Amino acid sequence: MDKLVIKGGTKLKGEVKISGAKNASLPILAATLLTDEPCTILGVPRLRDIHTMIRIIEFLGKKVDFHDGTLRVRQHSKLSPVAPYKLVSTMRASFCVLGPLLVRLNKVKVSLPGGCIIGVRPVDLHLKGLANLGAKITIDSGYVVASVKKHLKGDRIYLGGAFGSSVTGTANLMMAATLAQGTTIIEAAACEPEIADLAQFLNKMGAKIEGAGSPIIKIEGVNKLLGAEHCVIPDRIEAGTFMIAAAITRGDILIKNCVPEHLGAVIDVLRQSGVSVKIEDSQIRVRMTHRGRPINVTTAPYPGFPTDMQAQTMSMVTITPGISVIHEKIYPDRFMHVAELNRMGADIQRQGPYAIVYGMKRLSGAPLMASDLRASAALVLAALIADGRSEISRIYHLDRGYEKLDSKLQKLGANIHREKE
Ligand code: EPU
Repeated sequence: MDKLVIKGGTKLKGEVKISGAKNASLPILAATLLTDEPCTILGVPRLRDIHTMIRIIEFLGKKVDFHDGTLRVRQHSKLSPVAPYKLVSTMRASFCVLGPLLVRLNKVKVSLPGGCIIGVRPVDLHLKGLANLGAKITIDSGYVVASVKKHLKGDRIYLGGAFGSSVTGTANLMMAATLAQGTTIIEAAACEPEIADLAQFLNKMGAKIEGAGSPIIKIEGVNKLLGAEHCVIPDRIEAGTFMIAAAITRGDILIKNCVPEHLGAVIDVLRQSGVSVKIEDSQIRVRMTHRGRPINVTTAPYPGFPTDMQAQTMSMVTITPGISVIHEKIYPDRFMHVAELNRMGADIQRQGPYAIVYGMKRLSGAPLMASDLRASAALVLAALIADGRSEISRIYHLDRGYEKLDSKLQKLGANIHREKE
């Protein structure tokens, strides 16, 4: 296992190029199961989660070549109707194979994804939607067994839940509906840019989808989907993480290859805190010269403030004078970073889904333990400004979702390197 060793205190300066979006690439890879024809996906980041999804679709019958960010997927053997526990349990997004497999094979068995460190993450909305399309669903020994007599049939699906919509639920149903008979309307659909990107790919394959990226998506079923080529959108969470890196280190970073419109809520929060954010086409320049102002942040479905940026933002306000309040509304238990940040000298009090952050003058370096992807990024950011040396272990969590984070930070001047534990 690798660990990251970071000596804090450098103001980050320079340019960084953002990689393709993990959360767009994952469902797009699952979507290749909807055709027997070859597909080419460009701009895919080299990440552990991507390799996990490659393993899954290869198990299910595809052959994948992955070079320089280009994934070529072709049919290798007959599609398998079973996605086993040992593969699905390693990454929740793999549950996205359920919709495509069901609509193509009519009877499938996909393992339930299992527990998750960021909180309870049910899949009831995915299952409710498939039942609306005519699937008979039972749970047997930890597996979802889904079947349909002849064809899935288009219908209205209301996808609103207690915490908003479901991103991968919308993806799963949109994919299933492309080959269902008739028209499907998904109401209260997730509006995340990754959903719009998936719809673009599906439409290139011959699907008829309108409205993706809005709460109402209309899908007219077609008989067959074809091969297609698509370049995934840039990763808005990676871009947001580098924006915080500039702000927290009082640096000056030009973030290239990003879509500023995907980052409206993050830009707004940074500006409220006194950070200078300048937008130029597909790049964002973030500069900070002082200690900033406290903020109130509530996470919400897109276009609200992303839960995937909550931990990193909390690191930033640990050293912002005054009291900041962070309300986590999507995953009320997503606070694993709090205890580790407090071990660095932060003063964060958690009250249910709220974190009250009292800004300190400084943090101090410490041995730290990464726990999930975004919490790990938050620790890296905190270590960049802490006095002295931090060692972050279990960074395989970070490698799940950030492509070359350490070398990108090094290029910006950070004193960071990887060591074997
Ligand atoms: N929910 C339900 N029922 C469901 C599905 C979800 O109640 O059937 C609830 C969840 O418990 C949660 C909320 O709805 O409170 C939103 O969950 P959602 O299903 O949208 O999450 P997801 O699709 O499993 C994706 C991202 C996550 C990101 C969330 C929220 C991918 C592969 N994952 O997960 O990304 O946090 O949306 O934006 O797209 C990450 O990249 O670090 C990550 C965790």
